[in-house]
Amino acid sequence: MIETIQGHLYDFPRYYDLVFGSDWKAELDFLEAAFEKHSRRRVRTAFEPACGTGRLMFRLAKSGYKVSGLDLNERAVAYCNERLQRHGFRPTAFVADMSKFQIPKRVDAAFNMINSFRHLLDQRTAKAHLQCVAECLQPGGLYLLGLHLTPTATQPLDEESWSAQRGNLCVNTRLWSTSRDLKNREECCQMTFDVYTPTRSFRIEDTVIFRTYTRRQILSLLRGIEGLSIEATYDFSYDVDTPINVDDATEDVVFVLRKE
Ligand SMILES: C[S@@+](CC[C@H](N)C(=O)[O-])C[C@H]1O[C@@H](n2cnc3c(N)ncnc32)[C@H](O)[C@@H]1O
Repeated sequence: MIETIQGHLYDFPRYYDLVFGSDWKAELDFLEAAFEKHSRRRVRTAFEPACGTGRLMFRLAKSGYKVSGLDLNERAVAYCNERLQRHGFRPTAFVADMSKFQIPKRVDAAFNMINSFRHLLDQRTAKAHLQCVAECLQPGGLYLLGLHLTPTATQPLDEESWSAQRGNLCVNTRLWSTSRDLKNREECCQMTFDVYTPTRSFRIEDTVIFRTYTRRQILSLLRGIEGLSIEATYDFSYDVDTPINVDDATEDVVFVLRKE
């Protein structure tokens, strides 16, 4: 039987970076294309709230952007900064809560691509986050916010599994929804990560609670944030030439929000 650890993937940045790292090229290309298409100013500086290991930050830095980010998890921030430094960039990630932060200088763009926003479990912190982001953007700048919605016209997808390999490290991931309480707006997800290294194999079992958003709930929240307006919507196919209309069957969406 494989050894099992109860823990959070975010405390294992190397495994996190592998599990969620494989899609980086599509996301990076999309970010750059969306900056170009939707920003009213040239994007030179980019900020990532909930940056995790900084898998996108570091690649944007390599493309010439000045990047910075924050995350609540100290290990993820340390991993992110070490990698930035290893590649000759300043260690610009810091530990903070994305619902109460300030940055010293306003940026041209911010991004938060894969559901991190849904870690904010109530309306107050979700709103506070969006207000902090609005505050840290230059006029005409963008916030790209990606998340999964709860569709009301179809059954939501309940399970995903995938495998990722880098060198002799391999992680098989399974993620499934165990409960969805639409009244209290909480979805509980169970995740297992089977980690294989040349010397050890083990499983990490993780439970994550996400806030749920229907189309109406997210639109009402976003429309209530002063200074930000919805400029365009895409899905997780990250094709900047193919915007989508968000309807009650939509499951994944990237909002392009623009600061007035
Ligand atoms: C799904 S990961 C995304 C990381 C990164 N944005 C990426 O695309 O790979 C979610 C991240 O949100 C962070 N997080 C959760 N709650 C947070 C909060 N209140 N403030 C800042 N970071 C938070 C976690 O520590 C984790 O690194």
